[in-house]
Amino acid sequence: MDNVTTETPSADRGVSYRDAVPGPVPTSNGSLSLLRRLRQMRQTYPIEVFENLISEQKIGRFRYIILNDPDAIRHVLVENAKSYGKSPFLRRLLEPALGQGLLTSDGETWQRHRRLMAPVFAHRNLNRFAPAIATATSHMLERWDRSSDGSPIDLADEMSMLTLSSIARTMFGAEDDRILEGIVQIVARYQDAVGIGLADLLGLPNWVPRLSTIRGRYIVRHLNQVVDQLIERDRRPGHLLIDILTDDGGGSGQKLSRQEVRDQIVTILTAGHETTAQTMNWTWYLLSKHPDVEVKLIEELDEVLGGRTPAYEDLSRLVYAKAVVQESMRLFPPVPTFSRLCLADDAILGRRVAKGSIVMIAPWILHRHRSFWSDPDIFEPERFLETGERPRAYIPFGAGPRICIGASFAMMEAVLILAQVAQRYRLRLMPGHRIEPVVRIALRSRYGMKMIATRRSAAGLAKLAL
Ligand code: HEM
Repeated sequence: MDNVTTETPSADRGVSYRDAVPGPVPTSNGSLSLLRRLRQMRQTYPIEVFENLISEQKIGRFRYIILNDPDAIRHVLVENAKSYGKSPFLRRLLEPALGQGLLTSDGETWQRHRRLMAPVFAHRNLNRFAPAIATATSHMLERWDRSSDGSPIDLADEMSMLTLSSIARTMFGAEDDRILEGIVQIVARYQDAVGIGLADLLGLPNWVPRLSTIRGRYIVRHLNQVVDQLIERDRRPGHLLIDILTDDGGGSGQKLSRQEVRDQIVTILTAGHETTAQTMNWTWYLLSKHPDVEVKLIEELDEVLGGRTPAYEDLSRLVYAKAVVQESMRLFPPVPTFSRLCLADDAILGRRVAKGSIVMIAPWILHRHRSFWSDPDIFEPERFLETGERPRAYIPFGAGPRICIGASFAMMEAVLILAQVAQRYRLRLMPGHRIEPVVRIALRSRYGMKMIATRRSAAGLAKLAL
């Protein structure tokens, strides 16, 4: 994905949809040569997909349908979900690392494991996770305090480490930062190594060798060793998820095989940190570009917290902070596209969808679609406040039975981190640092996110916001 032509998001209020992301993009023009199509798929979304409700194209053995209509998306993800399975791309990309974890499995295995794990992520349990998130954030801030010499920090690395530390502490009781650092590096290397190539687009079977798979396998071997360390050495009993998975006090009565436990742990560690890290990354970026929004955020934090570490009970009053996170995920959805394989002939918006078609759902496009959002390229958290626009075309966490199991956890975590960090530090993009969104499974910033962190004074946070 090296020839991606993207423009840097403009420094003024608008963020253009030309801040395009590479990814499989069928267009309505069916006359392109295969090579040109492949190149186009690695480049940018053509402008018409931000205006069309449905478009389709045949590439190799697959018919791709890209859906931009909230009702049609609902049909695929919710109402007729049984006729759509996880796509072969997802499996090819993630199965070597995640095995039969919740993200990649289907059918009876998925159902059994989802049922087993769902209570961990239920609303009623969220409050017990908040203190560990605050502790992980405090450790990061103390480190920043010690090294605050004005030199830039890479927020992308910092946020990955922080969210991994949060998920590892809350779900597994793991605290060894060296093991966690190893996981962050492995996940980044894995995302760089694997990708959709010509063989996938043509629908060649998985046994056809791909360089990316070979690289991916090597990295996964390393990941397995690190996760084994985590399970055996670093794990603390009394943590909900690990107890349920190992039936160690979880009371589930179900015994998972060692491989099943490993697959779920790797799934939760990876799906549970990278997406939230990217949410924070883009949120800091947008706040850095929009000091007027930051002032309002700081005013709210000042009023609700007054410099105190945020707790679970504060969340209901941190409404603007939540809207900032929601709006950030609208413009920079951490999962910019996902897809389904059609398992039985269907019809969508009057169009026949044959069994074997790939249906693409792209929050990146839907969230900026001209038909559903006013001023879609403008960063405006107000649209998520109660009086604002009702976000029909907003699916950062997916929908239906396969909706993100960690959605509530992620929202809580993002708002808590935002509130705790923004009270202590003002973050500004390093002058000249290039920003280019790029899909590496999640939506990352190609060159990281270099920022200057300036400590705020404890008193009068709002006055110091600019
Ligand atoms: C802002 C953060 C997050 C975003 C934007 C996000 C987004 C998503 C999306 C879009 C899906 C559905 C994909 C599909 O339908 O094909 C998904 C599924 C999933 N997510 Fe998240 N996620 C986030 C955080 C988390 C966290 C914190 C965890 C775990 C603690 C997690 C674990 C999972 C799992 C296990 C699945 C698969 C669920 C299933 O198929 O039953 N995610 N996520």
